[in-house]
Amino acid sequence: MDELLDLDDAERLAQKVVPADAWSYITGGAGDERTLRWNREAFSRFRLRPRVLIDVSAISTETTVLGTPVSMPVLVAPMAFQAIAHEDHELAMAQGAAAAGTVMCLSTVATATPSDVAAAAPDGSRWLQIYVFRDREVSDEVIAQALDSGFSALVLTADLPVYGIRHREARLGFEAPEGNVPAIVAARARGGETDRHHALGLLEPGLQWDYVTELRERWKVPIVVKGLVTAEDALLACQHGASAVVVSNHGGRQLDGVIASLEALPEVVEAVGDRAEVYLDGGVRRGSDVVMALALGARAVLVGRPAMYGLAFGGAKGVQQVLEILRDEVENALALLGCRSAAEVTRAHVTQA
Ligand code: FNR
Ligand code: LAC
Repeated sequence: MDELLDLDDAERLAQKVVPADAWSYITGGAGDERTLRWNREAFSRFRLRPRVLIDVSAISTETTVLGTPVSMPVLVAPMAFQAIAHEDHELAMAQGAAAAGTVMCLSTVATATPSDVAAAAPDGSRWLQIYVFRDREVSDEVIAQALDSGFSALVLTADLPVYGIRHREARLGFEAPEGNVPAIVAARARGGETDRHHALGLLEPGLQWDYVTELRERWKVPIVVKGLVTAEDALLACQHGASAVVVSNHGGRQLDGVIASLEALPEVVEAVGDRAEVYLDGGVRRGSDVVMALALGARAVLVGRPAMYGLAFGGAKGVQQVLEILRDEVENALALLGCRSAAEVTRAHVTQA
C-alpha cells in the first residue's frame, strides 16, 4: 500500500527506495540507540490539557522565527549528504520546504552549494548550518557564499566535536559520498587529511564559546546554537550573543544516554527567558508533538528524518507532502487544544504524565 497519511507512512515509502547502507545512516542512532528511542518516547511523558468551547473557526498555524514568517512552527533540520536519498538532493529539499512555506537549514556538508540551493528555490527562506573545519577558511567560504545568496541566519552545531559511535551504519559499511560534498572536497584540496571514517575528522574538535561571539561579530546575522540540552549551556549561548538555541541531541546520533530533547526543553526555556528564541528537534512526528513542544515553551520545532523520507520517495514534492501533513496536523491539534494560533499555546496546556 502506497498510502501517505502520516509521517510513519512516509518512512515506510522511503525505506522501499533507499539502499540499506544509506538507510542505516539516515535512521540510525549512536550506541544502543537509547536516546534515539527516548526522543520519541518523551512525547508520552507529558499530556495535553485542552480547553473547550473556544471559537476555533479561524486558525492560523503561521508564526515567525528570527523575524522570518513561516507557514507553521516547523522548520527543516540540517541534514548532511542528501544525495544519498534522492538525485535532486538539497535542491529538492529547498524547493519542498519553500513550497510548504518554511525555512530549510542547509548543512555545511551538503551535496549542493549554498548558491545552487538558493537558485533552485529563490522564494524560500534558508539558514546555513555550520560545521567548522580545522582549516577555518573552508567554513568561512561556505558562510560567505551562503550569506551572499540570501541565507539569513547561521546555525552553529555544537554537539559534534567528534562523530558519534554509530554501529548500524558501521555494520552496513556506509560511506559518506564525500566526492560530492563541495566543502569536503575543498578541505581535502587544501591539504586536510584524516584517517577517520566519514571525512568528519576534518572538523575542528577544539571550538569553544568565544566562537559564537566571533561568528556574530564577523557576519552580522543572527546566530543559532544547535545541540544543547542543559540550562547551563543555554545561559552561555545567551551570554555569547546567540539569538536562538535548538534543544537537540542530534537526533540521538551523537552521545547515547543523553536526555530526550523534550525532557530537556523546560529547563532551557526557563534559563533563556525572553533573551533568545528556543526551538527543539528530535522525534517530532505528529502535530500533537509540535503543540506539546510549544506548550513546554518552544517557539518552533525542526524535523530531520521525516523530511529526508519525503525527499527519498518523492523529491521536492515528497518533502512538500510530508511538511503539509504536519501542517494540517498542527492546525488540527491547535483547534482541539482550543488555540487559534501558536501564540495561544501556554504551559497550562501541558502536564507531566
Ligand atoms: C542529521 N543531523 C545533522 N545536524 C546538523 O547540525 N548537521 C548535519 O549535517 C546533520 N546531518 C544529519 C544527517 C541525517 C541523515 C540526520 C537524520 C540528521 C541532525 C538533525 O539536524 C536533527 O538534529 C535531527 O535529525 C532531529 O531528529 P529527528 O527529527 O530526525 O528525530
Ligand atoms: C550526522 C552529521 C553529519 O549526524 O551531522 O550524520
